Amino acid sequence: MERREVWSADSRTSARKAASVSQPIDTLRRQDRFAKWAPHYENGEALSRLLCDLQACAAAGLHLAADDRLLDVGCGTGAAVRAASAMVRLAVGLDSSPAMIQQAEALADVSPRAVFIVADAQELPFPPAAFSVVLCTTALRHFTDATSAVTEMLRVLTPAGRMVVGDFQVGPGKLRRRWWGNPPPATALPNWTGLRQAISGTGGSVTEVIRYGTALGPYVIVSAVKPKIQLQR
Ligand SMILES: C[S@@+](CC[C@H](N)C(=O)[O-])C[C@H]1O[C@@H](n2cnc3c(N)ncnc32)[C@H](O)[C@@H]1O
Repeated sequence: MERREVWSADSRTSARKAASVSQPIDTLRRQDRFAKWAPHYENGEALSRLLCDLQACAAAGLHLAADDRLLDVGCGTGAAVRAASAMVRLAVGLDSSPAMIQQAEALADVSPRAVFIVADAQELPFPPAAFSVVLCTTALRHFTDATSAVTEMLRVLTPAGRMVVGDFQVGPGKLRRRWWGNPPPATALPNWTGLRQAISGTGGSVTEVIRYGTALGPYVIVSAVKPKIQLQR
């Protein structure tokens, strides 16, 4: 993958068993477009390897520390949660697909620090400031309201918490047609400018934007921090 720094400004810088869900499990199951993908999501083939590499690049931007509490939003089969659980105090994977979460649980080592939850990214079932780091990779494009999801991620972050969001930057519908045969909802598809605006508009501060060239088009990773002090608007 070709890495290109787009923007950087350091100085400007079970629960395991779905204890808390924002929608009834039956509703989420009916909407589970990812169920067929879950069993072979980590099958080691080209797409699987690409998504895994991109997720690892994004997760590296979190600079995890031993006392971190990580939330991975749209965690899929939980590779990032598994990797992080050895390093951090708590690693939570959240996904709206019961099949993805089932596979994540099957793949996870028995670790009290790795937890998987079925819930919707747009209504995170956590109190404010529950996590010191939030990750979201290759999932934002699937959310019906990406801005709400970003707002929720910032809400559950502690002051000075870090967030890394990564997704493909393609014209509306291109990837979606290839993968799903449908045009995407208008609000689902991020571009890095729109994502930066969504983060800034909800109180976050973007610290870095990196673009990778991939066989499926540019992949953009946006890093941000939540301000230490929330200003009254
Ligand atoms: C392409 S997979 C990405 C998985 C993983 N983050 C990665 O980087 O490999 C997209 C994931 O987003 C999840 N997803 C889609 N809409 C969601 C929503 N509204 N809330 C939570 N997860 C969602 C899907 O179930 C799927 O597991």
